[in-house]
Amino acid sequence: MQVVLIEGDGIGPEVTQAACRVVAAAGVRIDWVKAAAGIPAAEQHGEPLPEETLEMIRRYRVALKGPCTTPVGKGYRSINVRLRQGLDLFASVRPVRTMPGVKTPYEKVDLVVVRENTEGLYSGMEHQVVPGVVESVRLVTRAAAERIVKFAFELARHGGRRLVTFCHKADVMRLSDGLFLECARTVAEDYPFIQFEEKPIDNVCLELASDPTQFDVLVMENLFGDVISDLGAGLVGGLGLVPGANYGNRFAVFEAVHGSAPDIAGQGLANPIAVVRSAALMLEYVGHREAAVKIERAVAATLQNGVGLTRDLGGTGTTATITEQLIKNLGA
Ligand code: NAI
Repeated sequence: MQVVLIEGDGIGPEVTQAACRVVAAAGVRIDWVKAAAGIPAAEQHGEPLPEETLEMIRRYRVALKGPCTTPVGKGYRSINVRLRQGLDLFASVRPVRTMPGVKTPYEKVDLVVVRENTEGLYSGMEHQVVPGVVESVRLVTRAAAERIVKFAFELARHGGRRLVTFCHKADVMRLSDGLFLECARTVAEDYPFIQFEEKPIDNVCLELASDPTQFDVLVMENLFGDVISDLGAGLVGGLGLVPGANYGNRFAVFEAVHGSAPDIAGQGLANPIAVVRSAALMLEYVGHREAAVKIERAVAATLQNGVGLTRDLGGTGTTATITEQLIKNLGA
């Protein structure tokens, strides 16, 4: 089977290589087709997201991606945003679950953040009206709002989940989130067997910090989803642990929640677990469920044993030592 591999930049090459090793050790033969994105692509091709990379994902349908740096306030537009929009990967899914052996303030957190991935304030439409005044468009369309809420309900239905929480700020952004909320209510009517609730995003933050176990599936627009994903990662042990997937109707790109971590890049200190678990989600997507379960078990055993863990998990190990443990524990 061929799968596109985008190593990205920063810690991307280190953690994606670790993930490829774990997948191979889990017994799945994948012919990785390398495609460029991020700083190396900008340096080599003069373009951080070459059209060939998008074409390769269109051809092979599935990709595993490392993080890509986006310069702040200057330079090129976010590769991630362009990739998601270019392939219409409208649903970002981030499962946030308590992991064995990882000490956190709350036990038994098991929620999924479903984020609309193509619109909102990340639509990329902003301009300077006059010097000192800038306008950004917060795009909401009925079609995109309905499809992401439907996606969240379908995910709940197939995953045996009972509650979908729609997060919004419709009291202030009355037109944009007003439309989104109206769409969420309409879609919810088709799923009377799943509980539906609507909550202002600020209340959701408070409740996530005080008792995250009350949530199940959370669905929201793009920017809120970006923020809540990191908050969710913080609740269960940090960015090094939480995987992610971007799904469209035709293509899927799997990547961790975390970024390129320039502060630790190239030092062999990055925790590869988030990308390893993203690879497990990829395996599940392409029908290798057994291998995906095996990898998840190996992650659990590695965290539980506490041997070779990286610094973000309180250990003194490296990307290499934790990867060795993951491979060793595949038989666990
Ligand atoms: P970041 O997620 O890269 O790092 C935040 C903190 O978490 C840093 O202290 C970092 O060392 C730590 N960290 C992250 N992943 C880790 C891992 N696997 N193991 C151990 N520690 C880890 O977020 P930041 O610094 O805001 O962003 C850096 C760059 O990444 C930016 O250019 C940003 O645009 C980009 N980014 C890319 C994403 C993607 O490609 N999907 C997602 C998020 C950010």
